Amino acid sequence: MSKQIQPVRGMNDVLPAQIALWQHVERVARGIFESYGYQEIRVPVVEHTELFKRSIGEFTDIVEKEMYTFQDLGGDSLTLRPEATAGIVRSAISNGLLRGARHKLWCIGPMFRHERPQKGRYRQFYQLDLEAIGFPGPDVDIELIALISRLWRELKLTQVRLLINSLGTAAARAVYRERLQEYLRLHESELDEDSRRRLEGNPLRVLDSKNPAMRSVIERAPVLTDFLDSESAEHFARLRAGLDALGVAYEVNPRLVRGLDYYSRTVFEWVTDALGAQDAVCSGGRYDGLTAQLGGEATAAIGFAMGIERVVELVSLSGSTPVVATPEIYIVASGSRAELEALRLAERLRDALPGRGVLVNLGGGNFKTQFRRADKSGARLALILGDAELDRGVAAVKTLRSEAGQMDCPLGELPARIASWP
Ligand code: HAM
Repeated sequence: MSKQIQPVRGMNDVLPAQIALWQHVERVARGIFESYGYQEIRVPVVEHTELFKRSIGEFTDIVEKEMYTFQDLGGDSLTLRPEATAGIVRSAISNGLLRGARHKLWCIGPMFRHERPQKGRYRQFYQLDLEAIGFPGPDVDIELIALISRLWRELKLTQVRLLINSLGTAAARAVYRERLQEYLRLHESELDEDSRRRLEGNPLRVLDSKNPAMRSVIERAPVLTDFLDSESAEHFARLRAGLDALGVAYEVNPRLVRGLDYYSRTVFEWVTDALGAQDAVCSGGRYDGLTAQLGGEATAAIGFAMGIERVVELVSLSGSTPVVATPEIYIVASGSRAELEALRLAERLRDALPGRGVLVNLGGGNFKTQFRRADKSGARLALILGDAELDRGVAAVKTLRSEAGQMDCPLGELPARIASWP
């Protein structure tokens, strides 16, 4: 035997045994997104590297250390998307969708970050992402957070907490940036290598450091909220009042700055204690400056993304298991004439009873084997075809989940009989 090919580290298969949970999460999310007026958009997995540098920021962990960047055969520098927002905004600009219009969009798909894999943190992971483009808020900020709360309620997740903060406008952040830089320069000897580099490039990113040795210097740093401009403070107060009015619980966390550069004003994160170190389940915020930064007309916007692996894990920990669809009919056949008739009968039943699962026994086997498979499939009824049945133009119908027994039914009457079966 030749040597097995291993999967890429940090990239997982989602096996059939897990897919019911994934589909459950996706179905509930889709239903809620659409009921709030959001439409699905699909954008490429690969974009020009420049897009992510300009949106997420040169001095972020993602751009500095985590991107899957490569040169294609034409010599262009391309990157597997580490997140969806930049691509969606790029798409809105390149398709001429902005022009003062408003768009409520959502998207699902894999993202790629070369992080150190551990439970809940992968190199390929899936996000459900939602963006409201052309909405200055704070009404949409409130509605968006209410939408996510509804999703947790429908998924019966209770072990999540909402943290919110305001980063203010770019101008307010520039003032803060200088104060933070002064403070960090005074403590330069306490900074690690990454932070020293970021100190000049983008000091706010020093606050994202995950190095425990940096904790103390970060905790004593000036706080962004103290530098908020009055308009952002008003926006933030209205957001809080809205959440209070809707009964959404939250904590204001002045240290929540997010790891991507494009945010302004509202930022938020839903965290959990149930998943160990990877505590962020859903994160987002306002990015009013991004469209202009990427060459489009200035357009206010807000959005969020949730890691599907983390949400699926929480749903599975909560113990609520979604119902798995099982087929209704399993056709057992003996002999080559009956095997062919089984395939034809199955097609007729699928035409007549759309949406009802019909399985045909494939690969032969004696009756015992076939009935074992029928039982394992979860089907409610077995239809039995042998030479004797075919000669009489009937199939034997046998209930698999009750003691109702077995009876013959003319082939032509089967669809109607099955449709009215109790
Ligand atoms: P983010 O905080 O980088 O934001 O990621 C959003 C979510 O993706 C996280 O809360 C987490 O649940 C999940 N996630 C991130 N990295 C990993 C990983 N390596 N493995 C598993 N799950 C992960 C964004 O991506 C922004 N685009 C969100 C946004 C949309 N902001 C505005 N619009």
